[in-house]
Amino acid sequence: MAPITRRSLLKASAATAGAFGLGIGGNLVATALSAPEPRILKTAKIQAALTDPVPTRDVLTWGDSGMPPVLRMKKGEPFAARLVNGIDEPTTIHWHGMRIPNKMDGVPFLVQPYVYTGDHFDYAFTPPDAGTFWYHPHCNTLIQMGHGLTGVIVVENPDDPQFDAEIVLNLRDWRFGDDAQFIAQFRPRDAAKSGTYGTVRTANWKVQPQYDAPAGGLLRLRTAITDVTRIHSFRLEGAQALVIAIDGNPVAPTHFPLDLLQLGPGQRMELAICMPDDEGAVVSLRDVRPSKPATLATFRAVGTSLKRDLRDVPALEPNPVLPPDVASAEHIPLVLSATAEHAASNPICGSLGYSFWAINKVPWTGDTPDPTAPLAELKLGRSYVIDMQNVTPHAHPMHLHGLSFTVLSSSTGPVRPLVSDTYLIQPDERVQLGLVADNPGDWLFHCHIIEHQKAGMTSYLRVS
Ligand code: C2O
Ligand code: CU
Repeated sequence: MAPITRRSLLKASAATAGAFGLGIGGNLVATALSAPEPRILKTAKIQAALTDPVPTRDVLTWGDSGMPPVLRMKKGEPFAARLVNGIDEPTTIHWHGMRIPNKMDGVPFLVQPYVYTGDHFDYAFTPPDAGTFWYHPHCNTLIQMGHGLTGVIVVENPDDPQFDAEIVLNLRDWRFGDDAQFIAQFRPRDAAKSGTYGTVRTANWKVQPQYDAPAGGLLRLRTAITDVTRIHSFRLEGAQALVIAIDGNPVAPTHFPLDLLQLGPGQRMELAICMPDDEGAVVSLRDVRPSKPATLATFRAVGTSLKRDLRDVPALEPNPVLPPDVASAEHIPLVLSATAEHAASNPICGSLGYSFWAINKVPWTGDTPDPTAPLAELKLGRSYVIDMQNVTPHAHPMHLHGLSFTVLSSSTGPVRPLVSDTYLIQPDERVQLGLVADNPGDWLFHCHIIEHQKAGMTSYLRVS
């Protein structure tokens, strides 16, 4: 008889977890009838021509070639995917921003075992919310995401208003040398600051791609910042546009213009763009945050004008996120800080070998009596207010898995009541995020600048 190894145990629990995932909320017969054929997502190491006729080696994707597919799902309809691991290290998939069962959340050790080379894991869930989301591994993330494993998810709502065109942009950088090959993914001195930037910027794995859209038509542009480091300040040149959704949630109560909205890694933005009437006119989406602003993608008006108007864009239907009862809410104080301990820590699933950052003074995983204890234990169904304070001189896109929060107030001035899974907190800012703890499980909470996440700025909340 084969000895029981740690690996075989994890394999056994993978099979159980997969079956459990499919069986949520129903018996096996009902599941068999309603479960869709799983979408196969097989990790692969490929060569891809990203910047150059000379292909880049060691690019990672799901599938055989090119960018990870845009996954389309429908709100309220079951989705299933089988992750097959074709690369030579363990991996998982996290469905960023999606309020799905904890077992499906893709965080190794916390909620599921590693998926080793040659193994598979079945994910199955029903998206409760419509909007733009994304997917990425939660293992050795700096390298796996840095080398390509970041894909966009569109959850459609059958009641969505009709647009004349829709374009999805996966925005990310790559760290290449002059020969279009990968260079070291990070520098420790930058990991201790705002993170290490890529050298080449792409939209849908292309440098400044151009897309056609009907002249005078309404274009729904979905963007996802899937980069591991870069914060963006978008600007649109050549057309009028309204922000209609951020981080998968319609903006309420009305749309607003794009000016000076800053979004961090992990965040998504949807624009309604009214294309110019003149055939051939070009609209550019730019990032004006860096000292040298960059054009990310352009859109060219084609055909005779459809003569639409931004006033024709109705509000999107809000997602079913419960509003927190702020009056009765318990408060959870969270302080984001730098840590003096630069000793190598031993976090789960890939380490940078440094610890520069901490939440409530504890760098993950902490040198505390229980190094893997949750930050806070929340009671299922109750309301909470996260009082988060950033005492570092850098901005941090803080992401909470499995739950959506509402931005209540900030020390920086009036806020929009955005519903989100990621809040970009500025240096010295204090912010209040309200939520209802309506999804049981252990939910990771971390900075989405992956070097910060991997150098201490990670923890989790337990809802039970
Ligand atoms: Cu985008 Cu912990 O995730
Ligand atoms: Cu950070």
